[in-house]
Amino acid sequence: MTKRFVCRSADVPVNAVKEFDAGGGRKLLVANAGGDYFGYQAICPHQDVALCEGLYDGSVLTCHMHLWQWDIRTGAPIGLAEVPLEKYPLAIEGDSIFLGEQPSALDVGELFRGIAPETIEKLAALAQREAREQGSELYRPGDPADDFYVLDSGRVAFLIGREDRTSPGGFMLKKGEVFGWAALLDGYPVRIASARCLEASALLRINGRAALKVLEGDPVSCYVVMRRLASLIARYLAPSGAR
Ligand code: FES
Repeated sequence: MTKRFVCRSADVPVNAVKEFDAGGGRKLLVANAGGDYFGYQAICPHQDVALCEGLYDGSVLTCHMHLWQWDIRTGAPIGLAEVPLEKYPLAIEGDSIFLGEQPSALDVGELFRGIAPETIEKLAALAQREAREQGSELYRPGDPADDFYVLDSGRVAFLIGREDRTSPGGFMLKKGEVFGWAALLDGYPVRIASARCLEASALLRINGRAALKVLEGDPVSCYVVMRRLASLIARYLAPSGAR
């Protein structure tokens, strides 16, 4: 990906934050910390709330809704916050701020991060990149569960269950989050959840059987991925509030 113009430095006053369009429907929060600029996800990782509406004192960003806080230089959680903010590399050239090169969703993803680079490469070769519009439905219960998805950018919400017996499964917000994982399990040929894009989103779509074949050729990575997959499933099937 080539770098993309975001704004002029003067557009973000000292010790202020502002939200910008980062292309492809993505939103980016730019923070000015005493003249240093940092880029982050624009939406709170807790719920669907714009972080630019929060409180910011030049070093700590506070979401106004439930007061989660983050160190603006690192994105690390402070106090009540349970997860870090996703950071985006910025490149400053003169008075212009650009969104810099970003690592691939597979490299940073919760399932595949840190496994053998050759295996990541083989998985990347299987991935089809899809750009989906806001409101686009990715799948619904009963659809064939052949492929799983890795979120590259945007936001996806999913519901678990059928008809009136559904419960919110959660939001996918962070680059690298994996969903549609029935495609990686034996004995689950159809979806048990629905997934929909809350905003324009970029996704990697990977065939589950082909991915399992790649992983079977690298038992060490396969073990790591399967362990992470088990925790991921446990996390999303836990009653809300237990996550
Ligand atoms: S929505 Fe931001 S802290 Fe809850």
